[in-house]
Amino acid sequence: MSSTPPTQDELKAQVGRAALAYVQPGTIVGVGTGSTVNKFIDALAGMKDQIKGAVSSSVASTERLKALGIPVFDSNEVEELAVYIDGADEIDGRGHMIKGGGAALTREKIVAAQSRQFVCIADASKRVEVLGAFPLPVEVIPMAAQRIMRQFAAMGGVAQVREKDGAPLVTDNGQHIIDVSGLRITDPKAFELEVSQWPGVVTVGVFALQRAHVCLLGTSSGVETLNFG
Ligand code: 5RP
Repeated sequence: MSSTPPTQDELKAQVGRAALAYVQPGTIVGVGTGSTVNKFIDALAGMKDQIKGAVSSSVASTERLKALGIPVFDSNEVEELAVYIDGADEIDGRGHMIKGGGAALTREKIVAAQSRQFVCIADASKRVEVLGAFPLPVEVIPMAAQRIMRQFAAMGGVAQVREKDGAPLVTDNGQHIIDVSGLRITDPKAFELEVSQWPGVVTVGVFALQRAHVCLLGTSSGVETLNFG
């Protein structure tokens, strides 16, 4: 008798629940953005009386946290977080990620940088050998977008401005996102360091300096824990 394999939504819910094991009672938790993180936030509501609250990486996550009665702190109010829980668009075998599919990469990198441990929660489709099949999100100052797109073209990438309702999408920070296809990012740290220096780049969606320490990967046979050290 064969059982039905779990849906992607069920895999996201599994890893969202599994991430609760990394939340220390009495602390403020760093919370990412996206559909997988939404599952985590829903699960976190079940232990809201055991935590002080959360630092959030987006307006969307803030609204969801508050609706469930979880206090949200400004990141400036908190010096260091024990753990940051977030999803990814791609993750490689060393914990390097592409993030920003939900346009929240800048605040995600900020909260990750103030956290001692990054726990990535993802379904198995996100695990890759080399980053780059997912179009790389880059948050940019709008006046620099065309030049940055030409710089990516010179690297062999094809960049386009992300749109919403027929106009450039505006991030929580009032900036634009470009998505770059056709890249093969074999040295994520060097790539992140280089692109981060281009004038007008706010944040590049390669997370190598703020890589994951652990990934909880939702697979058809259960949650697999990848420890990257
Ligand atoms: C948002 C992100 C998300 O973590 C990433 O896009 C994954 O999202 P999802 O869990 O919906 O697949 O980086 O900016």
